Amino acid sequence: MSLFRLDASIRTEGSHSRRIADIVQREWREAYPDAPITNREIGIEPLPSDAWAHAVSAGQTPEDARTPEQVGAVALAARLTDELEQADGLLFAVPLYNFGVSQHFKTWVDLIVTDPRMAAGTEPAIAGKPAVLATVHGGYYAAGTPREGWDHATGWMRRILQDVWKLDLLVVEGDFTLVGVNPALDQFKELAEELRAAAEELAREHGRTLAAKL
Ligand SMILES: Cc1cc2nc3c(=O)[nH]c(=O)nc-3n(C[C@H](O)[C@H](O)[C@H](O)COP(=O)(O)O)c2cc1C
Repeated sequence: MSLFRLDASIRTEGSHSRRIADIVQREWREAYPDAPITNREIGIEPLPSDAWAHAVSAGQTPEDARTPEQVGAVALAARLTDELEQADGLLFAVPLYNFGVSQHFKTWVDLIVTDPRMAAGTEPAIAGKPAVLATVHGGYYAAGTPREGWDHATGWMRRILQDVWKLDLLVVEGDFTLVGVNPALDQFKELAEELRAAAEELAREHGRTLAAKL
């Protein structure tokens, strides 16, 4: 009952997305003490930003006429897709950056979609797999908050993971992670603590559900 885990944070120390994903992973681990985990770091070990264009153009080029860059990009997309296809459960830890999706996560998704197993219009090779998305925001974007509608990442990630790739997706969001870091947010300390406790509880729940679905 293997797990694939992706981390998109650009840091290791103090990372809230890693902290929440660790909680999910710990609960899953309780059920599967010896099961293997495949890790893919995309924030601190970024994928080459030109691989996607090479993979796209390779798709329009006969195999025996491809450049070495195109061959390498196709192989990379296949490797990334293998990691997903070979796992039983999937865990994604992705922060919000500049009100949008992490560039590293977008690059990773774009590359995978070039693989024939995941191409638009085909049944995705990973359809139906249980998955958890742990995403974190420095601010707070819930309905009714002043910044409602400014988080342009979570909705996009749901569309890709749930609707395009057809994963059986659970989502946990960690909000206000910049409280205690940015003094302008000091007034929200109490709320931030409540949100943190709620996110951790949901992460534990999702970890147990992920294990039970496998
Ligand atoms: C360059 C950069 C841009 C960020 N942009 C936003 C943003 O637009 N909105 C937001 O709520 N938080 C933003 N943040 C805060 C991060 O989402 C927050 O620190 C989060 O906890 C980072 O994930 P990590 O703790 O796993 O590293 C930004 C952080 C960085 C470093």
